[in-house]
Amino acid sequence: MTNLSSFSSKLNVVVIGSNGGLGKAFLEAFEADSRINSIYAFSRNTTISKNHKTQYSYIDLENEDSIKAAAKTSSSVSKIDLVIVATGILHNEKNIKPEKSMAQIDPDAMRAVIGINTIGPIMIAKHFLPKLRRDSKTVFAALSARVGSINDNRMGGWASYRASKAALNMLIKTVAIEQKRLLPESIVVSLHPGTVDTQLSQPFQKNVGKSSLFKASDAANNLIKVVNNLTIDDTGSFLAWDGSSIEY
Ligand SMILES: NC(=O)c1ccc[n+]([C@@H]2O[C@H](COP(=O)([O-])OP(=O)(O)OC[C@H]3O[C@@H](n4cnc5c(N)ncnc54)[C@H](OP(=O)(O)O)[C@@H]3O)[C@@H](O)[C@H]2O)c1
Repeated sequence: MTNLSSFSSKLNVVVIGSNGGLGKAFLEAFEADSRINSIYAFSRNTTISKNHKTQYSYIDLENEDSIKAAAKTSSSVSKIDLVIVATGILHNEKNIKPEKSMAQIDPDAMRAVIGINTIGPIMIAKHFLPKLRRDSKTVFAALSARVGSINDNRMGGWASYRASKAALNMLIKTVAIEQKRLLPESIVVSLHPGTVDTQLSQPFQKNVGKSSLFKASDAANNLIKVVNNLTIDDTGSFLAWDGSSIEY
């Protein structure tokens, strides 16, 4: 059971990346919440849920037409209360892996990481923000990462992923400023989930203490609490799983 008591009732929520480790955990938490009326779940590979509230559709962050269509579908019955963008990439089976040094930077891989982690979520914002309801609190939250903090970068490495998340944070802040003028009750934030046991972090977990590695369900619930506690004063901020602010 989630706690989204600061929102209106009969919520219409959207999860982008609903087939990922965190995305699936958000979806399951929302399906168990009786205050949520409808859930629109988007990914490239669809897992079929039997929950009557959930409607699945295809989205590819590298294809703006699919994002536009997703925004239209999600708001066809009622306006949207909450959007969670839980997509992202750190590595794949082909050419993308976090760089240990500058010598490993590959422009094609860097472009792909920025395309998915930076441009994709902002295209989601472009098409989904106009579909938010206007008469009560709404939230647009993109999952970022603490390693995207420029001030907090003490170790170097992971150039593409760090840069993609730093740029995402800048764009979220920029969008939040514009959105404040257009729709004063909407809150736009970047969130850091902590280190979470998903396929994204799996190859890099050996130096993470057991107590610092969250289960996806716990991480989603932590972030839902943060989302519930957000007020308009938080718009444009970069917040961790415990609600603390992260410096840019
Ligand atoms: N896990 C961690 O420790 C951790 C830490 C800090 C931040 N984060 C952030 O949290 C977010 C979720 O990560 P996760 O751990 O849940 O990773 P994950 O299990 O790998 O899920 C990421 C999802 O992103 C989707 N995706 C990738 N490229 C896409 C594209 N072009 N179009 C549509 N969807 C695309 C994938 O969708 P498909 O199913 O369609 O392939 C996948 O389901 C990411 O932004 C990540 O950077 C995670």
